[in-house]
Amino acid sequence: MAKDSLSADTIKRGLETRFIGQRVLYHPSVTSTMEIARREARQGAAEGTLVVAGEQTVGRGRSKHVWLTPEGNIALSLILHPGLSCLPSLIMLASLAVARSIERVTGLSPQVKWPNDILINGKKVCGILIESDVQGSTVNYTIIGIGINVNLKPADFAEIREIATSLSYELGQEVSYLSMLRCLLTELESLYLLLLSGGSLYEEWRAKLVTLGKKVRVISGDTVQEGIAEEVTRDGGLLLRRPDGEFTRIVAGETSSID
Ligand code: BTN
Repeated sequence: MAKDSLSADTIKRGLETRFIGQRVLYHPSVTSTMEIARREARQGAAEGTLVVAGEQTVGRGRSKHVWLTPEGNIALSLILHPGLSCLPSLIMLASLAVARSIERVTGLSPQVKWPNDILINGKKVCGILIESDVQGSTVNYTIIGIGINVNLKPADFAEIREIATSLSYELGQEVSYLSMLRCLLTELESLYLLLLSGGSLYEEWRAKLVTLGKKVRVISGDTVQEGIAEEVTRDGGLLLRRPDGEFTRIVAGETSSID
């Protein structure tokens, strides 16, 4: 969709959510939606406030990677105020909402690489970044940042062409940005409400994982560990069986397959 026809109003029109996306801050071009969302959250933005960018000039990925967001692709940051007990499940929530919305809008079959990369045919189509401000047992705010390659041409970007894909590339035709965005917001809200009412996202998330049973390398900060990804725990942690047979539980990191 052309950058100038997107606006907070076009995004909200026809959106059937109760609170997610009912306040939208749309920026045609911005450094990173995470920066805007953090500023908003610190000023007390309401739950469900959404920051959307037409393009990001300094999009942030995990582990200090850059995240490319040219026009036509989804880059958003969502502000939530969950309880402390919900925090571990937000990884499952975000990745499931993305996977479900891709399935519904395109019919493609995405999978999840632990903890929350979304892959199609083995290549990354979406990245998720979650930041929380916690003081004691109080969560001041959480920001879920989601970037989806909707209409990206991987061949145009040498730095990611071997590892990334997009919905339009996989489908062989352009994908409606607004359909994808609205469906994603609807799924985010319905999964969040399920979580708040005590429901579990674990089984559905686990069923979409490509990582289980694979030999993997996991980088968490300065620590690199290798082993078999045996299982995931109900709070989203990875149980790795190391070469010495011992199990170790990893709460966050970047996995790569070493088969
Ligand atoms: C990853 O490295 O896999 C996470 C990528 C997260 C990208 C999204 S795009 C919207 C939001 N704004 C950012 O600068 N990053 C996140």
